[in-house]
Amino acid sequence: MSEDHRAEIVLEHIKTTRAIRRFSDRSVDDAVILECLRAAQQAPSGGNVQPQQYLVVTEPDVRAWVADWYGRAYHRYEASLEDPSDFRSDDDRRSWERTRDASRHLADNMADVPVLVLFLQPRIAWGSEDADGPLDIGRLDASVYPAVQNFCLAARAYGLGTALTTVIRVYASEVLEELGVSSDRYEIAALVPVGYPTGRFGIARRKPVEAVTHWNRFGERRR
Ligand SMILES: Cc1cc2nc3c(=O)[nH]c(=O)nc-3n(C[C@H](O)[C@H](O)[C@H](O)COP(=O)(O)O)c2cc1C
Repeated sequence: MSEDHRAEIVLEHIKTTRAIRRFSDRSVDDAVILECLRAAQQAPSGGNVQPQQYLVVTEPDVRAWVADWYGRAYHRYEASLEDPSDFRSDDDRRSWERTRDASRHLADNMADVPVLVLFLQPRIAWGSEDADGPLDIGRLDASVYPAVQNFCLAARAYGLGTALTTVIRVYASEVLEELGVSSDRYEIAALVPVGYPTGRFGIARRKPVEAVTHWNRFGERRR
């Protein structure tokens, strides 16, 4: 396979790795999940600390329990938001409505998603200081989310859909303690539902890269 062809396949997978929130009831092999976690484990982390732990939930009653907390968190979150009314176009409005409907669908049906993966992040001191004071080297979660995205990309390569979600954090301590995790020691970086999508993978709408890219000085663009 030529390098161009390989790049084309990889880039197509990256660009079509988007939030999937509607899943079929087809089961997912543990071996495939492990392979995706191996990809996650290859992600970069600050000082190579590899801080994350993975908690894979497959048992239906445990999934139902996690899903229940997710649903409560999601609906509280949605109710707290104001509906935007100033859409720039009908396309923008429809896109927002699709995301809201899909998010509600996931919140109301998460118990049926075959696999839920929790990415756990330890509550450890992070950063450093010298004689002049604290050194800001970025937050610890910057060392966890690359693993989450690697996982989602690997899943996409197997034809599996995923969605990086975080609203479960609203009830993190309830969820963690029930799963045998000390919420004093860990927080939830992400909850990723995994399954075969009911729809097709497509490329999501995004701002044009040229509109958000600056060369050498902020504000200097190349078209
Ligand atoms: C940090 C983060 C938190 C997110 N939390 C949630 C969530 O709790 N629930 C949810 O349904 N989607 C969640 N999402 C998914 C986003 O809504 C989604 O990535 C975005 O709308 C783009 O979707 P698209 O790739 O399908 O266009 C989250 C995404 C990120 C990056």
